[in-house]
Amino acid sequence: MITKRYNEILRDLKNGKVVGLPTETVYGLGAGIYFESAINEIYQLKKRPKSNPLIVHVSSIEMIRELTLEIPESIEILIKKFTPGPISFLLKKNPAKVPNYITSNSDYVVVRIPNHPIFFKLIEQFKMPIAAPSANPYQMISPTSALHVNKYFENKIKIFDGGTCKNGIESTIISPLDGEVVILRKGAISKLQIEKVLNGKFKVVEKESENVPGSDKKHYAPNTPFLVVNNIDEIQHFIQNKKVGIIAMKTPRIDAEILSNIKLYKLNSTKEAMVDLYAVMHFLDELNLDVIYCERFPDDEYGQILNEKIEKAVNI
Ligand code: TXA
Ligand code: MG
Repeated sequence: MITKRYNEILRDLKNGKVVGLPTETVYGLGAGIYFESAINEIYQLKKRPKSNPLIVHVSSIEMIRELTLEIPESIEILIKKFTPGPISFLLKKNPAKVPNYITSNSDYVVVRIPNHPIFFKLIEQFKMPIAAPSANPYQMISPTSALHVNKYFENKIKIFDGGTCKNGIESTIISPLDGEVVILRKGAISKLQIEKVLNGKFKVVEKESENVPGSDKKHYAPNTPFLVVNNIDEIQHFIQNKKVGIIAMKTPRIDAEILSNIKLYKLNSTKEAMVDLYAVMHFLDELNLDVIYCERFPDDEYGQILNEKIEKAVNI
């Protein structure tokens, strides 16, 4: 159920319930980290394996200090520059404060300060960190509106409608390692932005880690067959008599008659695509198409991030 009643959501959290919450990246399925049964329910709702830990959301650097053993210098710099915001940090956890059922028994915890006024205020008034994975069933497209969440979990939870997510993709996950900064998951803050801030003092490397199970090969997948192609002009051959959706940054050069039957979603820039990609995927997935083709994005600052997401959405 979708609501705008803040007090109801806060009460649900205090009563140990799972709620749908807006963030600036994607919607989350949230619950207080000390409510073990609510955390179990998150796993059940998502059908997520218990080996895949949850991000913990807090509202201040002091709360990060409480939940972790140390904050290395590189991470302090990034926290100061980018938070509240779409960036998460994998740090050594304080075992007295972070239960094992949040971190799948790991000695590390991922923390983030979200930049959404409602989520932020909820943490402050709840006075408890909130665990919140993206509010989608395991391996499906992340939700960027309350309606998307409702589609997945109708009647099961209350969802606070905080509008559409302004970044539209997940937070970037960062880990400090031997004087370097490792990007474990590409996300709304680009490598270039991070490099600029660290200004050569720490090297920034991209490494998909087995520590981040979200780097599973399959992820973000729609139900409709979804394919990625290098050049959308070349699909004509494969789409005769099919109901087709296209996501691309140009109009494909194919027969006008065929084109007129296609649901084309044209994105104007990679920055715009980052905000809209998941919403477009949700939209096309509702239309009962035979196939969705997505053209690989240019390999620029944001295109690189998007390409990783669409590759993982490929489902045939
Ligand atoms: O933008 C976001 O980060 C959103 C919003 C709701 O905050 N959350 C999100 O959560 O994307 P989730 O669970 O869908 O993705 C978090 C990723 C998962 O791949 C998880 O395995 C990894 O972070 N992760 C969380 N805690 C971890 C830990 N202690 N060690 C290693 N990986 C961890
Ligand atoms: Mg997710």
